[in-house]
Amino acid sequence: MKFTKTKIGRNDLCPCGSGKKYKKCCLRKPRVSNSQDLKTSYYKRYKIRLKESGDIAGIRKTGRLVLDTLDMVEEKLQSGMQTEEINTLVHDYTLRHGAKPAPLHYRGYPKSVCVSVNEVICHGIPGKRILRDGDIVNVDITSILDGYLADANKTFFIGTPGEEAERIVRVCKESLKRGLEMVRPGNTIGDIGWAIQTYAEGEKCSVVREFVEIGSGVGFEFHEAPQVPHYGKKRDGVVLVPGMVFTVEPMLNLGSKDIKVLGDQWTAVTKDGSLSAQFEQTILVTEEGYESLTPYPL
Ligand code: MF3
Ligand code: CO
Repeated sequence: MKFTKTKIGRNDLCPCGSGKKYKKCCLRKPRVSNSQDLKTSYYKRYKIRLKESGDIAGIRKTGRLVLDTLDMVEEKLQSGMQTEEINTLVHDYTLRHGAKPAPLHYRGYPKSVCVSVNEVICHGIPGKRILRDGDIVNVDITSILDGYLADANKTFFIGTPGEEAERIVRVCKESLKRGLEMVRPGNTIGDIGWAIQTYAEGEKCSVVREFVEIGSGVGFEFHEAPQVPHYGKKRDGVVLVPGMVFTVEPMLNLGSKDIKVLGDQWTAVTKDGSLSAQFEQTILVTEEGYESLTPYPL
């Protein structure tokens, strides 16, 4: 990679990850002269595995399948349905398309998808809970196709949403959009969290702090480096460089940010019982900015 071809400002942080300004670093004297050096240095420094075009094509293909699976689920969602049925739908559809559901048996997780209703923030285990008119339900799908992972989720309405449901879903979706607008070489991981937090809190919603590994690198494995917190400070954290693939997946609560994990060791709920929403996409940093590998309109 030649940094001179990218749109990095002279005063931006250097994409080589040195933490110095671009003009004081690689603009004058490239420490990293090609993409192989950058790959090595990002792995050594941060354990971040930069992806090459073949990998990216693979992740993009898995991403397409994940989106198709989400669309299929959306069509079938209705009140009166058990969350277990969503698991069956996702599991069967994934296998039928030659892929595997990544959550199944991951760190002992018992199902093929996470289904998180209302006050459930994330990692809801599909089961006997029945969806009711007015509920919001997040369906989080990670599939593995030809060895490549892609991860995406959406929060859906069951029937007609109330005012609060509509608000948390709208703000959460917009917060993902604002986070993604920060993704470009020379910006940092902290810039993404900062944009999400500033917007969400301005709308009187709170950002869940746990599960930083949830926003994370993805592609070869679940929860690779780096971690992507959905809160933070501008200019903090790792400098984004082309080839990074990670998820951005803000979890926002209507009430306080505090959580508790239920006895099943997975289901995370809001401590105050308030509604929680989430939206997630798998993102590739490109020379110009970013490409979503699980693109849906925001
Ligand atoms: N898809 C989730 C994420 O966005 C992780 C699922 S955890 C599992 O990070 F255990 F359910 F697999
Ligand atoms: Co996910």
